[in-house]
Amino acid sequence: MMKIAIDGPAGAGKSTVAKTLSQLMSYIYIDTGAMYRSLTWKALQTGTNLDDEKALYELATNTNIHFQKDNSQQKVFCDSFDVSEEIRSPQVSSYVSKLASYPSIRQLMVQRQQEMACNHSVVMDGRDIGECVLPDADFKFFLTASIAERARRRLAEMKSQGYEQQLEAIRDEIIKRDEDDARREVGALKVLPDSIVIDTSNMTIEQVVEKILAIIRED
Ligand code: C5P
Repeated sequence: MMKIAIDGPAGAGKSTVAKTLSQLMSYIYIDTGAMYRSLTWKALQTGTNLDDEKALYELATNTNIHFQKDNSQQKVFCDSFDVSEEIRSPQVSSYVSKLASYPSIRQLMVQRQQEMACNHSVVMDGRDIGECVLPDADFKFFLTASIAERARRRLAEMKSQGYEQQLEAIRDEIIKRDEDDARREVGALKVLPDSIVIDTSNMTIEQVVEKILAIIRED
C-alpha cells in the first residue's frame, strides 16, 4: 500500500496535483482541507460559536463528512448535503483556520483521515499530513510557490467558481491563513526534515505531476 502526503500553503496547487496523481495511479484522493471546510460550513449554517471549542467538537462528532466520485469529479458531502461548491466560499475560507486551530477538532479529523487511508493506497493533501496523519508515508511532498503566483491561481479558481474577488483581497486572505496555519500549536504548516520541497511558481500542473512521478519511480 502506497501513501503519498502532499502538504503546503494555500494556493500552491496541492489539490489539483494530488487529484491528477491519484487518477493516474488509481489511488484514493483525500482532500483534508475539504473536511475542515465542511465543518466550518456546518458551524456557520447552524450558528455554532466559532470561539467555542467544546461546542464545535460536539458538532464535529455529530457530522458525517465523506467523498463521493461523480464521473471524473469528486464531490464532498457534509451529512446529506453536497457542499462541494459552498465550502470554497470566501466566508468559509476566512473562518476555517480558526476552527482548524482547535486541538480536539484536529485530533478527531486526523483519526477520521487515518481511518479513510487505512487499507488503501492514497494521495492525501493538507497541512499536517506528513507530520500527523501519515507520519509513515512513503513520500512527503511540500508544494509551495511565491505569494504572487498563489494569489493569481486562487483568483482564477475563484473566478471559475463564479466568485468576483480582487487579487489584493485574495492575497491578504492567503497570507493571513498561512500565518494562522503555521502558528498553531498542533498540526502546524511546516517543512519536515523528510519533506521533498517543490517550488511550483514557474511550473505547470503537468510539470509538477511529472516531477513527482519521476521521484516516485526513481525510488
Ligand atoms: O487545503 P485548503 O486550503 O482547502 O484548506 C483549508 C484550511 O483547512 C487550511 O487553511 C487550514 O486551516 C485547514 N487545514 C488544516 N489541516 C489540513 C488541511 C487543511 O488545518 N490537513
